[in-house]
Amino acid sequence: MALASLAIRWHDTALDLLDQRALPADTTWLRITNARDAAHAIREMVVRGAPAIGITAGYGLALEAQRLGDQASLAALAPAFEVLAASRPTAVNLFWALDRLRQAAGDLSGAALARHLSEQAERLHRDDLAANRRLGEAGLALLPEGARVYTHCNTGALATGGHGTALGIIRSAWEAGRLRSVYAGETRPWQQGARLTSWELMQDGIPVTLVVDSCAAMLMAQGEVDVVIVGADRIAANGDTANKIGTYSLAVLARHHGIPFIVAAPDSTLDAAMQDGSGIVIEQRPAEEVRQVAGQPCAPADCPVHNPAFDVTPAALISAIVTENGVIPSPDPTAMAAYFARSAS
Ligand code: MRU
Repeated sequence: MALASLAIRWHDTALDLLDQRALPADTTWLRITNARDAAHAIREMVVRGAPAIGITAGYGLALEAQRLGDQASLAALAPAFEVLAASRPTAVNLFWALDRLRQAAGDLSGAALARHLSEQAERLHRDDLAANRRLGEAGLALLPEGARVYTHCNTGALATGGHGTALGIIRSAWEAGRLRSVYAGETRPWQQGARLTSWELMQDGIPVTLVVDSCAAMLMAQGEVDVVIVGADRIAANGDTANKIGTYSLAVLARHHGIPFIVAAPDSTLDAAMQDGSGIVIEQRPAEEVRQVAGQPCAPADCPVHNPAFDVTPAALISAIVTENGVIPSPDPTAMAAYFARSAS
């Protein structure tokens, strides 16, 4: 069955991805027909955002099973699992999706396996949208009337199966009349805030003001920000949270100014097996991303660069984590363990 969200269109025998590198100037779609293409699209940021990466990996596996035809089996799919798992290391949603499909494959083979993997990938896609809608509603209670929200990176429909995580709360708050305005940090070096979040919010008519990342402290000092809401790529068992580089700085700033700092993520972003944030692998990306802006040099060509794509915010700086199953206030090992126990029962 065909299934489409803002950036991911599934056509049963092929996947089309909105090339997010070209937004907002161009709307270009790339066709994906196998796992290698899907992994390449993830690595090169055609598709990005933790949940969207997981969904794409699911479809990539389903396409690979179709390509293998009668030969399709869990063993024959091993190289596909491997290439997808190697695409980006930090977002746990990728590994969560691959595990879900590995379990679903069981002893199936051939056309039955391909069909089942397609159905499972569609399910990941559909469930993520549903989770984000619930998460958006759950987050409403944490916002004051007329909230002015600061957000980072892009956590919207482009980054998920739809609605978004941090942007999901923002969208739900707008629908509920609780939101006054949004500050979007531009998010160097990929400019997800500038190119994607502002684009998504403007399309929905949600009042957004774009700022350079280094403007956040001043806005908070001036009393312009009521709450910071961000997404996550991986949340450890103690609540430590990996998200786009710059998230940690915002959490420190929010604490200094007494502003609530909220992390929004579906359960697929929780990594109960990761004890704390120190074990999370942080992706290092190419130097050119920092030495250039939109392909134009903005630094000496040979200047050494440090370019981690994510940082880890200690749980102690997080006011609450919001998932589709509710709010975890003041996350710490005990609150997280209670949440995991609740979800398992
Ligand atoms: O490098 P990106 O664009 O994939 O990073 C995205 C983020 O850090 C998001 O905040 C996170 O994946 C959550 S998206 C709902």
